[in-house]
Amino acid sequence: MTAQIIDGKAFAATVREKVAGHVTRLKEESGITPGLAVVLVGEDPASQVYVRSKGKQTVEVGMNSYEHKLEADTSEEDLLALIDKLNNDPAVHGILVQLPLPGHLNEDLVINSIDPAKDVDGFHISNVGLLGTGQKSMVPCTPLGCLMMLRDHHGSLSGMNAVVIGRSNIVGKPMAQLLLGDSCTVTIAHSRTKDLPEVVRGADIVVAAVGRPEMVPGDWIREGATVIDVGINRIERDGKNKLVGDVDFESASKVAGAITPVPGGVGPMTIACLLANTLTACCRANGLAEPDGLTA
Ligand code: GUN
Repeated sequence: MTAQIIDGKAFAATVREKVAGHVTRLKEESGITPGLAVVLVGEDPASQVYVRSKGKQTVEVGMNSYEHKLEADTSEEDLLALIDKLNNDPAVHGILVQLPLPGHLNEDLVINSIDPAKDVDGFHISNVGLLGTGQKSMVPCTPLGCLMMLRDHHGSLSGMNAVVIGRSNIVGKPMAQLLLGDSCTVTIAHSRTKDLPEVVRGADIVVAAVGRPEMVPGDWIREGATVIDVGINRIERDGKNKLVGDVDFESASKVAGAITPVPGGVGPMTIACLLANTLTACCRANGLAEPDGLTA
């Protein structure tokens, strides 16, 4: 069997088009332009690339982008003061503080100081609790993107066995909640899981989010399963730099029914979902109908 490739790059383009269409209508009908504020503290090169990309795509879908670049030694007090200002700014509908933060800043404190209604990352404890209890929340972007691709591929996920490998707050845990919300039977596997290969072999859906290059080989995958690879790992092979996922694509794509590639799978969906979340937050803030198909 050769797996169908789930093209995240193309899917993300359709999500962005959908968002852009809604933004155009919103501007025409109500004069409101959704706005996203991104806060970057310090000069981590990977974070700078992400933030630039977020700003560019925000403008491309017709939204306002507000970038706040702060020095690496910015005090917690100053950062919290900026977040307070953004919380109270009606032109800002979404706030994202790029992680990781420099070590002297308390990430939990900072994230939980964002107005939950503007928390487009879905990391605030209120949003985590709302998601866990099946209530309307802001949903973390990467798991939301994975869910959209799974729903698009399968239609209903009801009754499927899903194994999420990785238990991070950003991906693994919210991914498991979303799959449970769609009536999957969900297992969260991690570094201490006993007989991980056998656990993964029981899965109709495998979501790999561990950050270990090509950790999941094809012989762990059940014939015909759907594999969503969240990993983005930089490795050197044959003297060249290469991006690989947490799944060994070569062997897994021979047994899976469908698989996301790296790059071009989950990656592009994350920013597309950030834009979708900003639009959703803007609609909710203004008591307007939310767009269909862009939330969980
Ligand atoms: N750093 C890496 N991924 C993310 C993300 O999804 N959100 C934020 N805020 N920071 C990140």
